[in-house]
Amino acid sequence: MDDRDLIRQTLRTVPDWPEPGVQFRDITPLLQNPRVFRVLIDQFVHRYFDARPDAIAGIDARGFILGAVLAYELNIGFVPIRKKGKLPFDTVEESYALEYGEATVELHTDAVKPGDRVVLVDDLIATGGTMLAGKKLLERLGATVIEGAAIVDLPELGGSTRLRAEGLALHTLVS
Ligand code: PRP
Ligand code: ADE
Repeated sequence: MDDRDLIRQTLRTVPDWPEPGVQFRDITPLLQNPRVFRVLIDQFVHRYFDARPDAIAGIDARGFILGAVLAYELNIGFVPIRKKGKLPFDTVEESYALEYGEATVELHTDAVKPGDRVVLVDDLIATGGTMLAGKKLLERLGATVIEGAAIVDLPELGGSTRLRAEGLALHTLVS
């Protein structure tokens, strides 16, 4: 079985969560299985090793799990993009709509420097609102997002198409 099939088969779908009509793609079984967790991280390490990004930005909360390990493996810094009200220092913020609700994310103003090349990491792209908000925050601080990386793309929700139309290159492992 190849890596992508292994990931696809290990991902869990929970119907009608957190609300009726949502097919929730749960990544926790991928993290729980050490072989699959390693496959996931190795996929992203190989993807970004030669690109030598300056930092990994991970999105609250599931993007922290992958992003922090990836940054550690690439020997570069990790910067958290957090849900509003959690970061203590000066921040920039962006609000956006989700598949199930609304949210605002924040980034510390000193998280990246103008000219930094950053990989933006999350677990999943649905409507694309979260990743687009992350891209805008990083760009407001003068950084360039070289790619958005996620395990899962849900193409039927239109996010990946929308993000590419906004000029963001994407790398996802399964659809
Ligand atoms: C989920 C997921 C992504 C986002 C994707 O996070 O982890 O961050 O939704 O949706 P979008 O493409 O429509 O923006 P959620 O906001 O549920 O937060 P969590 O990681 O704290 O569970
Ligand atoms: N975030 C937004 N939509 C999602 C879904 N269907 N499964 C998991 N996370 C999500």
